[in-house]
Amino acid sequence: MLVLGIETSCDETAAALVRNGNEILSSVISSQIDIHKRFGGVVPELASREHLDKIGPVIDEAFACAKVERNSIDGLAVTVGPGLVGSLLVGVSYAKAMAFALNKPLVGVNHIEGHIYSVAFENPPVIHPALALIVSGGHTNLFWVPEPGKYKVVARTRDDAAGEAFDKVAKLVGLGYPGGPIIERLAREGNPRAVKFAVPRMGDGLPDFSFSGLKTAVTKYVRENDLQPLKHGEAPTQAIRDLAASFQSVVVRSLVGTMEKVAEEYYPRTLIVAGGVACNGALREACRIAAKRLDVPVYFPSPHLSTDNAAMIAAAGTVKLGAGERAGLDLNADVTLRLGNIEVDEDAQKRAGARYRL
Ligand code: KG4
Ligand code: ZN
Repeated sequence: MLVLGIETSCDETAAALVRNGNEILSSVISSQIDIHKRFGGVVPELASREHLDKIGPVIDEAFACAKVERNSIDGLAVTVGPGLVGSLLVGVSYAKAMAFALNKPLVGVNHIEGHIYSVAFENPPVIHPALALIVSGGHTNLFWVPEPGKYKVVARTRDDAAGEAFDKVAKLVGLGYPGGPIIERLAREGNPRAVKFAVPRMGDGLPDFSFSGLKTAVTKYVRENDLQPLKHGEAPTQAIRDLAASFQSVVVRSLVGTMEKVAEEYYPRTLIVAGGVACNGALREACRIAAKRLDVPVYFPSPHLSTDNAAMIAAAGTVKLGAGERAGLDLNADVTLRLGNIEVDEDAQKRAGARYRL
Protein backbone atom coordinates (compact mmCIF):
# COMPACT_ATOMS: atom_id res chain seq x y z
CA MET A 1 0.00 0.00 0.00
CA LEU A 2 1.42 3.36 -1.06
CA VAL A 3 0.27 6.30 1.06
CA LEU A 4 0.84 10.04 0.80
CA GLY A 5 1.22 11.65 4.24
CA ILE A 6 0.66 15.38 4.79
CA GLU A 7 1.64 17.25 7.97
CA THR A 8 1.07 20.96 8.67
CA SER A 9 0.10 21.07 12.35
CA CYS A 10 2.73 23.53 13.55
CA ASP A 11 5.77 25.05 11.83
CA GLU A 12 6.81 22.32 9.39
CA THR A 13 5.18 21.80 6.00
CA ALA A 14 5.80 18.15 5.21
CA ALA A 15 4.80 15.49 2.69
CA ALA A 16 5.99 11.89 2.38
CA LEU A 17 5.35 8.79 0.31
CA VAL A 18 5.48 5.60 2.33
CA ARG A 19 5.10 2.02 1.15
CA ASN A 20 3.49 -0.59 3.40
CA GLY A 21 3.76 1.65 6.45
CA ASN A 22 7.51 1.21 6.91
CA GLU A 23 9.39 2.09 3.73
CA ILE A 24 10.02 5.76 3.00
CA LEU A 25 10.13 6.54 -0.73
CA SER A 26 10.39 10.27 -0.05
CA SER A 27 10.06 12.60 2.93
CA VAL A 28 10.13 16.34 2.30
CA ILE A 29 10.12 18.82 5.18
CA SER A 30 10.06 22.57 4.77
CA SER A 31 10.93 24.07 8.14
CA GLN A 32 9.83 27.55 9.16
CA ILE A 33 12.38 27.90 11.96
CA ASP A 34 14.12 30.84 10.28
CA ILE A 35 10.83 32.75 10.06
CA HIS A 36 9.85 32.27 13.72
CA LYS A 37 13.34 32.41 15.24
CA ARG A 38 13.44 36.14 15.79
CA PHE A 39 10.14 35.99 17.71
CA GLY A 40 11.44 33.24 20.02
CA GLY A 41 8.49 30.97 19.17
CA VAL A 42 5.95 30.08 16.49
CA VAL A 43 3.75 32.97 15.28
CA PRO A 44 0.49 31.28 14.17
CA GLU A 45 -0.46 33.82 11.47
CA LEU A 46 2.94 33.60 9.82
CA ALA A 47 2.87 29.81 10.08
CA SER A 48 -0.41 29.40 8.17
CA ARG A 49 0.68 31.80 5.42
CA GLU A 50 3.94 29.92 5.00
CA HIS A 51 2.11 26.57 4.86
CA LEU A 52 -0.09 27.96 2.07
CA ASP A 53 2.99 28.99 0.11
CA LYS A 54 4.84 25.72 0.61
CA ILE A 55 2.24 22.94 0.56
CA GLY A 56 2.00 22.66 -3.24
CA PRO A 57 5.77 22.62 -3.93
CA VAL A 58 6.45 20.27 -0.98
CA ILE A 59 3.92 17.70 -2.26
CA ASP A 60 5.27 18.05 -5.83
CA GLU A 61 8.76 17.39 -4.52
CA ALA A 62 7.62 14.33 -2.56
CA PHE A 63 6.25 12.78 -5.77
CA ALA A 64 9.29 13.81 -7.81
CA CYS A 65 11.78 12.35 -5.27
CA ALA A 66 9.84 9.08 -5.01
CA LYS A 67 9.48 8.93 -8.81
CA VAL A 68 5.82 7.94 -8.58
CA GLU A 69 2.74 9.25 -10.35
CA ARG A 70 -0.02 10.80 -8.26
CA ASN A 71 -2.47 8.23 -9.51
CA SER A 72 -0.46 5.30 -8.22
CA ILE A 73 -1.06 6.09 -4.52
CA ASP A 74 -3.58 3.96 -2.64
CA GLY A 75 -4.63 6.67 -0.21
CA LEU A 76 -3.86 9.85 1.68
CA ALA A 77 -3.32 10.54 5.38
CA VAL A 78 -3.36 14.03 6.85
CA THR A 79 -2.81 15.43 10.35
CA VAL A 80 -6.13 16.73 11.73
CA GLY A 81 -4.95 17.78 15.21
CA PRO A 82 -3.83 18.76 17.73
CA GLY A 83 -2.03 21.86 16.51
CA LEU A 84 -2.60 25.41 15.31
CA VAL A 85 -5.96 25.76 13.60
CA GLY A 86 -4.82 27.88 10.63
CA SER A 87 -1.87 25.56 10.01
CA LEU A 88 -3.91 22.35 10.29
CA LEU A 89 -6.57 23.70 7.92
CA VAL A 90 -4.06 24.18 5.11
CA GLY A 91 -3.09 20.48 5.16
CA VAL A 92 -6.63 19.20 5.70
CA SER A 93 -8.08 21.31 2.86
CA TYR A 94 -5.30 20.37 0.48
CA ALA A 95 -5.63 16.65 1.32
CA LYS A 96 -9.42 16.70 0.82
CA ALA A 97 -9.12 18.43 -2.54
CA MET A 98 -6.45 16.00 -3.69
CA ALA A 99 -8.37 12.92 -2.48
CA PHE A 100 -11.44 14.17 -4.33
CA ALA A 101 -9.54 14.96 -7.53
CA LEU A 102 -7.71 11.60 -7.56
CA ASN A 103 -10.71 9.67 -6.22
CA LYS A 104 -8.54 8.05 -3.52
CA PRO A 105 -9.42 7.24 0.10
CA LEU A 106 -8.43 9.71 2.82
CA VAL A 107 -7.94 9.34 6.60
CA GLY A 108 -7.31 11.92 9.31
CA VAL A 109 -4.43 11.21 11.71
CA ASN A 110 -3.84 12.42 15.26
CA HIS A 111 -0.41 14.11 15.31
CA ILE A 112 0.55 12.38 18.57
CA GLU A 113 -0.35 8.98 17.16
CA GLY A 114 1.85 9.94 14.21
CA HIS A 115 4.80 10.45 16.61
CA ILE A 116 4.18 6.96 18.04
CA TYR A 117 4.38 5.53 14.49
CA SER A 118 7.67 7.35 13.82
CA VAL A 119 9.46 4.27 15.24
CA ALA A 120 7.91 2.09 12.50
CA PHE A 121 10.92 2.94 10.34
CA GLU A 122 14.45 1.67 10.96
CA ASN A 123 13.41 -0.44 13.98
CA PRO A 124 12.15 -4.01 14.38
CA PRO A 125 8.33 -4.21 14.52
CA VAL A 126 6.84 -3.01 17.82
CA ILE A 127 5.69 -5.88 20.06
CA HIS A 128 2.63 -5.02 22.12
CA PRO A 129 1.84 -4.17 24.84
CA ALA A 130 4.05 -1.11 24.52
CA LEU A 131 4.71 1.97 26.62
CA ALA A 132 5.20 5.15 24.59
CA LEU A 133 6.72 8.38 25.89
CA ILE A 134 5.90 11.24 23.52
CA VAL A 135 7.89 14.37 24.28
CA SER A 136 7.66 17.38 22.01
CA GLY A 137 7.23 21.13 22.04
CA GLY A 138 3.50 20.83 22.62
CA HIS A 139 3.07 17.46 24.37
CA THR A 140 4.47 15.31 27.12
CA ASN A 141 2.49 12.10 27.49
CA LEU A 142 3.11 8.54 28.52
CA PHE A 143 0.76 6.09 26.78
CA TRP A 144 -0.01 2.49 27.53
CA VAL A 145 -0.55 0.78 24.16
CA PRO A 146 -1.91 -2.76 24.80
CA GLU A 147 -2.51 -3.33 21.07
CA PRO A 148 -2.14 -1.21 17.91
CA GLY A 149 -4.57 1.70 17.90
CA LYS A 150 -5.47 1.46 21.63
CA TYR A 151 -4.12 4.17 23.90
CA LYS A 152 -4.41 4.91 27.59
CA VAL A 153 -2.81 8.05 29.00
CA VAL A 154 -0.94 6.90 32.10
CA ALA A 155 0.93 10.17 32.72
CA ARG A 156 0.90 13.62 31.23
CA THR A 157 2.13 17.08 31.99
CA ARG A 158 0.02 19.28 34.21
CA ASP A 159 1.46 22.47 32.68
CA ASP A 160 4.37 22.97 30.23
CA ALA A 161 5.51 20.33 27.74
CA ALA A 162 9.13 19.18 28.08
CA GLY A 163 10.16 20.80 24.77
CA GLU A 164 8.40 24.00 25.78
CA ALA A 165 10.50 24.03 28.98
CA PHE A 166 13.69 23.67 26.89
CA ASP A 167 12.53 26.52 24.63
CA LYS A 168 11.55 28.82 27.53
CA VAL A 169 14.77 28.25 29.47
CA ALA A 170 16.82 28.87 26.32
CA LYS A 171 14.94 32.13 25.72
CA LEU A 172 15.48 33.19 29.32
CA VAL A 173 19.26 33.02 28.96
CA GLY A 174 19.32 34.40 25.41
CA LEU A 175 20.26 31.16 23.64
CA GLY A 176 17.88 31.31 20.68
CA TYR A 177 15.13 29.11 19.25
CA PRO A 178 14.39 26.22 19.26
CA GLY A 179 16.02 25.78 22.64
CA GLY A 180 16.33 21.98 22.83
CA PRO A 181 19.25 21.43 20.44
CA ILE A 182 21.14 24.50 21.78
CA ILE A 183 20.75 23.45 25.42
CA GLU A 184 21.85 19.93 24.53
CA ARG A 185 25.00 21.25 22.85
CA LEU A 186 25.91 23.50 25.80
CA ALA A 187 25.07 20.77 28.31
CA ARG A 188 27.83 18.59 26.84
CA GLU A 189 30.36 21.12 28.16
CA GLY A 190 28.59 21.73 31.48
CA ASN A 191 28.40 20.05 34.88
CA PRO A 192 24.96 18.48 35.44
CA ARG A 193 25.51 18.56 39.22
CA ALA A 194 26.43 22.25 39.36
CA VAL A 195 22.90 23.47 40.11
CA LYS A 196 20.65 21.36 42.32
CA PHE A 197 17.16 21.32 40.80
CA ALA A 198 14.61 18.97 42.37
CA VAL A 199 12.77 16.43 40.19
CA PRO A 200 9.15 17.69 40.17
CA ARG A 201 6.84 15.29 42.02
CA MET A 202 3.06 15.38 42.31
CA GLY A 203 1.79 15.84 45.86
CA ASP A 204 -1.13 13.53 45.03
CA GLY A 205 1.12 10.62 44.04
CA LEU A 206 -0.05 10.39 40.39
CA PRO A 207 2.82 9.76 37.98
CA ASP A 208 2.29 13.07 36.11
CA PHE A 209 4.90 15.54 34.91
CA SER A 210 5.23 19.25 35.65
CA PHE A 211 7.83 21.58 34.20
CA SER A 212 6.60 25.10 34.98
CA GLY A 213 8.01 25.03 38.53
CA LEU A 214 11.37 24.08 37.10
CA LYS A 215 11.24 27.05 34.74
CA THR A 216 10.56 29.28 37.78
CA ALA A 217 13.48 27.68 39.62
CA VAL A 218 15.74 28.46 36.65
CA THR A 219 14.49 32.08 36.56
CA LYS A 220 15.22 32.42 40.28
CA TYR A 221 18.68 30.93 39.87
CA VAL A 222 19.48 33.30 36.99
CA ARG A 223 18.36 36.30 39.05
CA GLU A 224 20.05 35.31 42.31
CA ASN A 225 23.33 34.49 40.60
CA ASP A 226 23.21 37.53 38.38
CA LEU A 227 23.60 35.52 35.15
CA GLN A 228 23.32 37.86 32.19
CA PRO A 229 21.30 36.63 29.16
CA LEU A 230 23.60 36.31 26.15
CA LYS A 231 23.48 39.07 23.56
CA HIS A 232 23.38 38.02 19.92
CA GLY A 233 26.45 35.98 18.96
CA GLU A 234 28.06 36.14 22.43
CA ALA A 235 29.88 32.99 23.61
CA PRO A 236 28.16 31.23 26.53
CA THR A 237 29.95 31.32 29.90
CA GLN A 238 30.74 28.20 31.93
CA ALA A 239 27.95 29.19 34.37
CA ILE A 240 25.43 29.03 31.50
CA ARG A 241 26.81 25.69 30.32
CA ASP A 242 26.47 24.33 33.87
CA LEU A 243 22.93 25.66 34.08
CA ALA A 244 22.05 24.01 30.73
CA ALA A 245 23.52 20.67 31.88
CA SER A 246 21.75 20.79 35.26
CA PHE A 247 18.41 21.72 33.70
CA GLN A 248 18.66 19.01 31.04
CA SER A 249 19.64 16.45 33.65
CA VAL A 250 16.58 17.09 35.83
CA VAL A 251 14.21 16.99 32.82
CA VAL A 252 15.73 13.67 31.71
CA ARG A 253 15.52 12.21 35.25
CA SER A 254 11.88 13.25 35.52
CA LEU A 255 10.91 11.72 32.15
CA VAL A 256 12.88 8.51 32.45
CA GLY A 257 12.20 8.00 36.17
CA THR A 258 8.46 8.12 35.54
CA MET A 259 8.66 5.89 32.49
CA GLU A 260 10.63 3.30 34.45
CA LYS A 261 8.26 3.40 37.43
CA VAL A 262 5.21 2.94 35.20
CA ALA A 263 6.95 0.16 33.24
CA GLU A 264 7.61 -1.75 36.47
CA GLU A 265 3.89 -1.73 37.09
CA TYR A 266 2.60 -2.42 33.54
CA TYR A 267 5.20 -4.84 32.09
CA PRO A 268 5.41 -3.54 28.48
CA ARG A 269 7.24 -5.60 25.84
CA THR A 270 8.53 -2.52 23.99
CA LEU A 271 9.36 1.03 25.04
CA ILE A 272 8.84 3.81 22.49
CA VAL A 273 10.38 7.27 22.95
CA ALA A 274 9.46 9.80 20.26
CA GLY A 275 8.74 13.49 19.55
CA GLY A 276 11.15 16.40 19.06
CA VAL A 277 12.75 16.06 22.51
CA ALA A 278 13.59 12.42 21.67
CA CYS A 279 16.43 13.89 19.53
CA ASN A 280 18.17 14.56 22.83
CA GLY A 281 21.20 12.33 23.28
CA ALA A 282 21.15 12.45 27.10
CA LEU A 283 17.49 11.38 27.10
CA ARG A 284 18.25 8.53 24.70
CA GLU A 285 21.16 7.33 26.81
CA ALA A 286 19.09 7.40 30.03
CA CYS A 287 16.26 5.53 28.27
CA ARG A 288 18.69 2.86 27.03
CA ILE A 289 20.01 2.34 30.56
CA ALA A 290 16.46 2.11 31.95
CA ALA A 291 15.44 -0.31 29.19
CA LYS A 292 18.40 -2.53 30.00
CA ARG A 293 17.41 -2.56 33.67
CA LEU A 294 13.83 -3.43 32.68
CA ASP A 295 15.06 -5.94 30.09
CA VAL A 296 12.83 -4.61 27.28
CA PRO A 297 13.88 -3.07 23.94
CA VAL A 298 13.54 0.69 23.51
CA TYR A 299 12.91 2.17 20.06
CA PHE A 300 13.58 5.75 18.98
CA PRO A 301 12.93 7.33 15.61
CA SER A 302 16.05 8.40 13.74
CA PRO A 303 16.66 12.14 14.42
CA HIS A 304 15.05 13.38 11.16
CA LEU A 305 11.88 11.45 12.09
CA SER A 306 11.85 12.67 15.72
CA THR A 307 10.75 16.20 14.91
CA ASP A 308 7.61 16.83 12.85
CA ASN A 309 7.46 14.98 9.53
CA ALA A 310 4.88 13.43 7.23
CA ALA A 311 6.35 9.91 7.01
CA MET A 312 5.06 9.16 10.51
CA ILE A 313 1.60 10.45 9.50
CA ALA A 314 1.61 8.19 6.43
CA ALA A 315 2.68 5.20 8.62
CA ALA A 316 -0.18 5.79 11.09
CA GLY A 317 -2.58 6.40 8.18
CA THR A 318 -1.58 3.14 6.46
CA VAL A 319 -2.91 1.13 9.42
CA LYS A 320 -6.19 3.07 9.37
CA LEU A 321 -6.63 2.77 5.61
CA GLY A 322 -5.81 -0.95 5.82
CA ALA A 323 -8.52 -1.35 8.47
CA GLY A 324 -11.03 0.24 6.09
CA GLU A 325 -11.26 3.61 7.82
CA ARG A 326 -12.36 6.42 5.49
CA ALA A 327 -12.80 10.16 6.10
CA GLY A 328 -15.51 12.08 4.27
CA LEU A 329 -15.12 15.48 2.69
CA ASP A 330 -16.48 16.92 5.92
CA LEU A 331 -13.17 16.05 7.61
CA ASN A 332 -12.11 19.01 9.73
CA ALA A 333 -9.21 20.18 11.85
CA ASP A 334 -9.57 19.54 15.59
CA VAL A 335 -7.22 21.77 17.57
CA THR A 336 -7.75 20.04 20.91
CA LEU A 337 -7.81 16.46 19.64
CA ARG A 338 -6.68 14.00 22.34
CA LEU A 339 -5.20 10.57 21.98
CA GLY A 340 -6.67 8.02 24.35
CA ASN A 341 -9.49 5.56 23.77
CA ILE A 342 -9.07 3.49 26.93
CA GLU A 343 -10.81 4.91 29.94
CA VAL A 344 -8.61 6.56 32.51
CA ASP A 345 -9.93 6.79 36.03
CA GLU A 346 -10.93 10.45 35.91
CA ASP A 347 -12.68 10.14 39.25
CA ALA A 348 -9.41 9.10 40.87
CA GLN A 349 -7.73 12.10 39.25
CA LYS A 350 -10.46 14.38 40.55
CA ARG A 351 -10.29 12.88 44.04
CA ALA A 352 -6.55 13.50 44.00
CA GLY A 353 -7.31 17.12 42.99
CA ALA A 354 -5.19 16.90 39.81
CA ARG A 355 -5.52 19.97 37.59
CA TYR A 356 -4.30 19.92 34.01
CA ARG A 357 -3.54 23.01 31.98
CA LEU A 358 -2.83 21.06 28.80
O1 KG4 B 1 7.91 17.20 17.70
P1 KG4 B 1 8.34 18.60 17.43
O2 KG4 B 1 9.12 18.88 16.17
O3 KG4 B 1 7.11 19.57 17.37
C1 KG4 B 1 5.99 19.45 18.19
O4 KG4 B 1 5.11 18.63 17.86
O5 KG4 B 1 6.00 20.17 19.22
O6 KG4 B 1 9.18 19.08 18.71
C2 KG4 B 1 9.81 20.32 18.80
C3 KG4 B 1 10.42 20.46 20.19
C4 KG4 B 1 10.98 21.84 20.50
O7 KG4 B 1 10.47 22.27 21.74
C5 KG4 B 1 12.48 21.63 20.56
O8 KG4 B 1 13.15 22.50 21.46
C6 KG4 B 1 12.56 20.18 21.03
O9 KG4 B 1 11.51 19.53 20.35
N1 KG4 B 1 13.85 19.57 20.67
C7 KG4 B 1 14.75 19.15 21.58
C8 KG4 B 1 15.89 18.70 20.85
N2 KG4 B 1 15.61 18.85 19.52
C9 KG4 B 1 14.36 19.38 19.42
N3 KG4 B 1 14.72 19.13 22.93
C10 KG4 B 1 15.80 18.66 23.57
N4 KG4 B 1 16.92 18.24 22.95
C11 KG4 B 1 17.01 18.23 21.59
N5 KG4 B 1 18.12 17.81 20.99
ZN1 ZN C 1 5.17 16.95 16.84
